[in-house]
Amino acid sequence: MVLTPKFSAHFYFQVMKDNGFPIPDDEIMLYGEFPQGFLWSTATAAYQIEGGWRADGKGLSIWDKFAHTPLKVFEDDNGDIACDSYNKIDEDVAVLKQLRVNHYRFSISWTRVLPDGTTNYINEAGFSYYDRLVNALLAENIQPHITLYHWDLPQALQNVGGWENETTVERFKDYADLVFSRLGDRVKLWITINEPYNVAMVGHGYGVAAPGISFRPGTLPYIVGHNLIKAHAEAWHLYNDKYRAKQNGMVSITINSDWSEPRNPYKQEDIDAARRVIQFYIGWFAHPIFNGDYSETMKTIIRERSLAAGLSKSRLPEFTPEEIKRIKGTYDYFGFNHYTTVLAYPLNYGNLQHYDGDRGAGTVVDRTWLDSGSGWLKVTPFGLRRILNFIKKEYGNPTIIITENGVSERGPIDLKDYHRSYFYEKYINQVLKAHLLDNVDVRGYTAWSLMDNLEWATGFAERFGLFYVNRSDPNVPRVAKESVSLYSTIINCNGFPDPASGPHDCLKPGPEGNQRCSDSSSGGKNKPDTMIN
Ligand code: BGC
Repeated sequence: MVLTPKFSAHFYFQVMKDNGFPIPDDEIMLYGEFPQGFLWSTATAAYQIEGGWRADGKGLSIWDKFAHTPLKVFEDDNGDIACDSYNKIDEDVAVLKQLRVNHYRFSISWTRVLPDGTTNYINEAGFSYYDRLVNALLAENIQPHITLYHWDLPQALQNVGGWENETTVERFKDYADLVFSRLGDRVKLWITINEPYNVAMVGHGYGVAAPGISFRPGTLPYIVGHNLIKAHAEAWHLYNDKYRAKQNGMVSITINSDWSEPRNPYKQEDIDAARRVIQFYIGWFAHPIFNGDYSETMKTIIRERSLAAGLSKSRLPEFTPEEIKRIKGTYDYFGFNHYTTVLAYPLNYGNLQHYDGDRGAGTVVDRTWLDSGSGWLKVTPFGLRRILNFIKKEYGNPTIIITENGVSERGPIDLKDYHRSYFYEKYINQVLKAHLLDNVDVRGYTAWSLMDNLEWATGFAERFGLFYVNRSDPNVPRVAKESVSLYSTIINCNGFPDPASGPHDCLKPGPEGNQRCSDSSSGGKNKPDTMIN
């Protein structure tokens, strides 16, 4: 008779081997610095913060429509006023200064500059807002990092099919052309599309984000994803051919993904399921752009499941050989958003023609992982280092800029957001490990978010901000949470100085702490777990 050890047997063996519960290597704090010129940033998106939904000729976007449809957004919240950033350039720049970031990532509302989505009519008043914002940032030595598309498609384009319609690729290219031509003299960092996975799956598969479509989940997300990839590639080529020589900036796409571990690391089918989760998440978009074409995993599984269901071809559209070539390599860095980790196991959905069935995996979380204000977000710092290493290995060691990472809370307002300081310290320390110990070429880190804002379909209830926004005060003031001091200290020290080689001026709060930490002798030593201040 063959006895197969259960997971508990492995666990008990480990306890005996360790003679207790030592701090896992993963969680031990590493002291050291990030490379010179590291990009420190924080992010927002137009619909989540701007308000001014009808101001000065702005057109309507799919998010204006979605949020004004009853029951789509929690408490029927909407972005009509949001954080009123459209009227608060000075206030926003002031809090960025307080954070000491050297970059600020924000997005442009397509319909603020092109009300019907096309270049037939350019709304100069809308452009003036971004012009003034860019100038105000540069005056404070904060570099703008602009996202062209953070989910707010012009409703006029949705009316003719939106991202399902290939002509949207052309419209996006025209829009990108206009924005590069107007702001590219001063803006050197660009993101074409934020999180194509969410646009495709959440907006067109699960239907819980605009445009809220869920009735062809087996095909529509793949068609939308296909056009998003083409739109990105066209915008990149346009910049490359027309603007790069003069403007000398960097253009990429921001891809999001959870990290995925096998539920039982000793079971091959769980290991395979975890790999599928990753290939269907980050790989869906990264593979065509960084390696060329969809991954074999996606192509094979979707084709076989489509044919088995009696369809004449795969539900995943095919790129022509010319398209594969045109898309491959359309990046100047890897823009990456990351929040959490899941545990995967195989799950057979039978004949269900849906992304979930194609992926063939279920996911759970470890109940010991800390919670956040968002059901989907568990605090799992180790996953960030692992997925950074995955990107390095899988996509040819690209330069990576982390374009979002952060944590939420819900419930009563509490400016003592100890959980956020903990989150940032632990996750950023994992980025440092990826840089110093694993040689991952990571050049920047962006905290999501500068301030509490409209968290899409969950409204204002989930708050990701470093700053609290008091929306019941007519001045909509921004108020620092305690994590502002933690994050600005990490920025000021460009990492985590070793207390043993201190005292470090960079750790002092306020103007005294203006001197950056440059004690390189502290680089790379492991020490027990601490908060840095
Ligand atoms: C998005 C942000 C969002 C954040 C937290 C990302 O998916 O880009 O707009 O607020 O995650 O959910």
